[in-house]
Amino acid sequence: MWKKTTGENSNDLTRKVEAFTVGNDYMLDQVLVPYDLAASAVHAEALTIAGVISDEEYMLLTHGLEDIHEAWKKGSFKILPEDEDMHTAIENELTLKLGELGKKIHAGRSRNDQVLTAVRLYEKEKLNEVLRSVIKTAELLIIFAEKYEKVPMPGFTHTRKAMLSSVALWAGGYAELLIMQVKAADGVRSLVDRSPLGTAAGFGTTFSINRELEAEKLGFRQTMICATTAQLSRGWVELQLVQYLSALSSIINRLASDVIHYSSEAYGFFDLDEAVCTGSSIMPQKKNPDLAELMRARHSRMASHASALQTLIANLGSGYHRDLQLTKEPVIQSFEDALELFEAAKWLIVSINPQVEKLKNACTPELFAAEAANHLVKNEGKSFREAYRIIKENPGSIPHQSPEEMLKEYSHLGSPGNPGLSLLRVELENLT
Ligand code: ARG
Repeated sequence: MWKKTTGENSNDLTRKVEAFTVGNDYMLDQVLVPYDLAASAVHAEALTIAGVISDEEYMLLTHGLEDIHEAWKKGSFKILPEDEDMHTAIENELTLKLGELGKKIHAGRSRNDQVLTAVRLYEKEKLNEVLRSVIKTAELLIIFAEKYEKVPMPGFTHTRKAMLSSVALWAGGYAELLIMQVKAADGVRSLVDRSPLGTAAGFGTTFSINRELEAEKLGFRQTMICATTAQLSRGWVELQLVQYLSALSSIINRLASDVIHYSSEAYGFFDLDEAVCTGSSIMPQKKNPDLAELMRARHSRMASHASALQTLIANLGSGYHRDLQLTKEPVIQSFEDALELFEAAKWLIVSINPQVEKLKNACTPELFAAEAANHLVKNEGKSFREAYRIIKENPGSIPHQSPEEMLKEYSHLGSPGNPGLSLLRVELENLT
């Protein structure tokens, strides 16, 4: 009924409006087809239980849906702009094959709960895919840290040399942050993991659909209770999901930034494999960290998806609004960005070759100034303030110590001499 006259009989303005309202939504839907098919199969089952369609009709419908899935896998199920969206394209295809029966499937549902269900199923799956990649990235960082555990490195504050650190402590910090963020996924997952199916246009239906059963069949942890929650949650859940992904990418953004600097001539701490670098078309000597730079930039793009969603949902009252259609793109784009970014992160990590001599030589005496003051506290009973003053006034009195020897003096957990890599490993293994 929503379908206006299109094609040859529609007038020019109708066609232009249709092109505007459909936009690129039909292309984005191409990704969501399998999820819409899964939800449709479960809806058909619920209609059968409710006595709306017969068992035989249910069988025919599920076979029809399976055929569409096969065609989609082969790339031959295409949604056209004139279909408007995947929901209509799928129903049209069913009707083509099954006649009037194809149209029966739309009893008790609306594209409003359909799209939301498909998107949430997609999000659940993609979130797990991203997390698997993040866990792998954290593991590579731990392997890297273990390999270079005893290699000293200057630690910086304000981009100025601060205190002694180590390659393991540098990499371990990023690994721990990734582990923390993977654990935090439980929060965002609980937002995604409530089934909106059966809420129809946003207010339910008089068909006695077993929504809890639908949720269970689709693998949702819970059913969205109030039908009104469904449309209120659209974009709001997506915002938090995209913010979550953007927080993940910010970890890689900072890692990439360190790698860019530490592999520059100014530092010389890391050498990067040729494979992750590019040359210059004019300067023959150049070995540029383009991959790391684009990883850093990818985060900025991901952060912009979150602000797009934030702006999009502001001021919308309850219920469905067509504005919500535009929540799809930032979500799909964020997942694609996150998956590509963590692939790249893995390539980058395994390409870092710490330059041990340069790192040691960079550990110049001023790095030990704070520890020299600590020494006066420990051995001469001075207050720290007094010891600080003495060292500040006599920087030459800082003992020359080899950074490797100095590493051994650090014993507490999380210090350069004891970065706690075995604890990180345990946490990582508990994630998988
Ligand atoms: N493409 C639409 C969206 O993503 C599907 C729902 C259409 N519903 C409607 N009432 N026009 O929001």
